[in-house]
Amino acid sequence: MLTVAVLISGTGSNLRALLDAASAPDFPARIVAVGADRQADGFEHAEEFGIPTFLVPYSRFGSREEWGAELDEQLRVWNPDLVVLSGLMRLLPAGLVEAWAPRIINTHPAYLPEFPGAHGVRDALAAGVTETGASVIVVDTGVDTGPILAQERIPVQPGDTEHTLHDRVKPVERRLLIDVVHRIATGELDLDNLAH
Ligand code: GRF
Repeated sequence: MLTVAVLISGTGSNLRALLDAASAPDFPARIVAVGADRQADGFEHAEEFGIPTFLVPYSRFGSREEWGAELDEQLRVWNPDLVVLSGLMRLLPAGLVEAWAPRIINTHPAYLPEFPGAHGVRDALAAGVTETGASVIVVDTGVDTGPILAQERIPVQPGDTEHTLHDRVKPVERRLLIDVVHRIATGELDLDNLAH
């Protein structure tokens, strides 16, 4: 059974979907802990499922490196096989990424390498593209530059706002994330031997 820790910042709707999927008896992974960099609403989902939570408030540390060191320590308490960033709105320091690589993955609301960064949906709209997408990647020390594990195109519709488009992207992100976690858990996807 693959053990997973999930890191969030916000509402945790992707986390919720993963918790639902992982609660099926035949799902080959289980979530062992949920962490956040702030008092995230998504903690409610973890609590509902009886999953332990940990909070490492970014604001309480003098630097990204010190925050990352504490986050690393908290993760090591649970020692998960995989770390999933699911709406964590902070760049991880390189030391933390290197410590967990390649067992750390992220979801992104755009078709990478298009529109990396914190505003993937807004940037796609501003660029006037007719389609964007959703991606799941391995985290590396760049900004959304790691190997792509899964991605899917999503059309932009006339009149879309950041909100309406993001609402259509998120269900795709969830589906891709659940599938990737499943494939890692079964060994179908081997993070140590990714084809380049
Ligand atoms: C997702 O679109 C994620 O890719 C982005 O923020 C959103 C998280 O939403 N970085 P939620 O917290 O899972 O609802």
